[in-house]
Amino acid sequence: MPALLKIGFTPFDRPRGVLVTFCADGLKLGPATQKILSPIGDLHRRAAAADRFTGKNGSTLEIITPVGLDVPRLVMVGTGKERDLKGRDVVKLGGVAMGKVPSTATQATIVAEFAAGALKADQIADLALGARLRAYAFDRYKTKRKEGEERAAKVEVNFACANPTAAEKAWTRAMGVADGVVLARDLVNEPANVLYPAEFARRASALRKLGVVVEVLDVAAMKKLGMGALLGVGQGSAHEPKLVVMRWNGGKRGADPIAFIGKGVCFDSGGISIKPAQGMEDMKGDMAGAACVVGLMHALAARKAKVNVVGVIGLVENMPDGRAQRPGDIVTSMSGQTIEIINTDAEGRLVLADALHYVNKRFKPRFMINLATLTGAIMVALGQEYAGLFSNDDKLVERLAKAGDATGEKVWRMPLGPEYDKIIDSKFADMKNSGGRWAGSITAAQFLQRFVGKTPWVHIDIAGTALGSPQTDINKSWSAGWGVRLLDRLVEDHYER
Ligand code: BES
Ligand code: MN
Ligand code: ZN
Repeated sequence: MPALLKIGFTPFDRPRGVLVTFCADGLKLGPATQKILSPIGDLHRRAAAADRFTGKNGSTLEIITPVGLDVPRLVMVGTGKERDLKGRDVVKLGGVAMGKVPSTATQATIVAEFAAGALKADQIADLALGARLRAYAFDRYKTKRKEGEERAAKVEVNFACANPTAAEKAWTRAMGVADGVVLARDLVNEPANVLYPAEFARRASALRKLGVVVEVLDVAAMKKLGMGALLGVGQGSAHEPKLVVMRWNGGKRGADPIAFIGKGVCFDSGGISIKPAQGMEDMKGDMAGAACVVGLMHALAARKAKVNVVGVIGLVENMPDGRAQRPGDIVTSMSGQTIEIINTDAEGRLVLADALHYVNKRFKPRFMINLATLTGAIMVALGQEYAGLFSNDDKLVERLAKAGDATGEKVWRMPLGPEYDKIIDSKFADMKNSGGRWAGSITAAQFLQRFVGKTPWVHIDIAGTALGSPQTDINKSWSAGWGVRLLDRLVEDHYER
């Protein structure tokens, strides 16, 4: 697929470059598509028969230099039974279509029409979103290419539709979300020698150009606030921790904000409780929660969401060192609660404990949602399909489940309960930071809950969904930028004035 993508919207006139059309089960075509394809007669039917292509959802048929049309290639993408299609399926089809544009092509036209007829502006924007996400590749460190891997410097993809102006407008909004996902992916994919806390904070600060107010708290500021839990995690690293506060004020002046908090462990070696070498490189992605929050802030600011939002990310590096935190150490969190460190690898909850308390105290938000690659145990429970969700608020859970269904970034509720508390009782302090293997994701959530007071709160454990993402039609990268679309949808559906 090509490197740089320029997306545009044109009328259904003369297709240019690779031509992509949609067809439903039984090779049913929409009226504009029929007209565009009329010069080829029954060529596509014969090709379909030869290839056993029937228009099944997500399947494709390719015809090179179709006689009668002045295009290098015709691609037909199946939509299947169109009555069942949801928004997330339209996004997926945009990804399928983009996946069929060869990497050397410089131009493509995607006919934005299904067999059932013209698409609404929002659906066309969904197609474009899918195309944009599919075209993403994190290849900035590749200096060599294999033969046949060359890319066109730039490709222009036009969506042919009845009302290009309306589609363009819908895309302007969706593009903010697409850019937010891409930003999150870039941050997660970036290696930890490049993306350490100060550099992460610099990249988050770039949101200022969209009108986001960004503050970066350094170690001195965090010491003053008493953030002993977060600072303890970072003390073994040559890179100092940072706490970044991002605010987008698109809502009513003075209205209480909603808040998103991200775990930003730029590298998690485990610390003194060091992890095994196998797979440790993946721990450059232990800041995916923070990346999602930054991507979301980008999306909301870019589309000028009518809501007041706070995004806070705790950025640290967890390293073994002569100055590193030890098992047995006792730290005092900003909330005043003390924590005995049993395992220095259970560090995410320590970072979040101070970040959550800080947000709750300073902003008194309507709700707090934190995202964190918190436990390996959540991967054991749910794999990579669902993120684990823990909450003290049924309404928020229901809204997130719906947003997950709509976007395909799915969440599954896990239990909380005072019965689990005794697992993290400590002999010496108010609690310990690890309760061992049993119910590992739940005890981690139970730990976080001690720092949120009575505020409606959700913890989403994204250890399974955010890294080493399964390859899909809208993501071929190691990081899917998981969560940006989910939370953008939640905000759009329920919290904008
Ligand atoms: N960052 C890890 C969790 C993780 C594992 C994320 C694999 C993504 C992929 C977290 O800091 C961690 O090490 N958790 C420990 C907790 C344990 C020591 C109580 C774990 O899950 O083993
Ligand atoms: Mn860890
Ligand atoms: Zn971690």
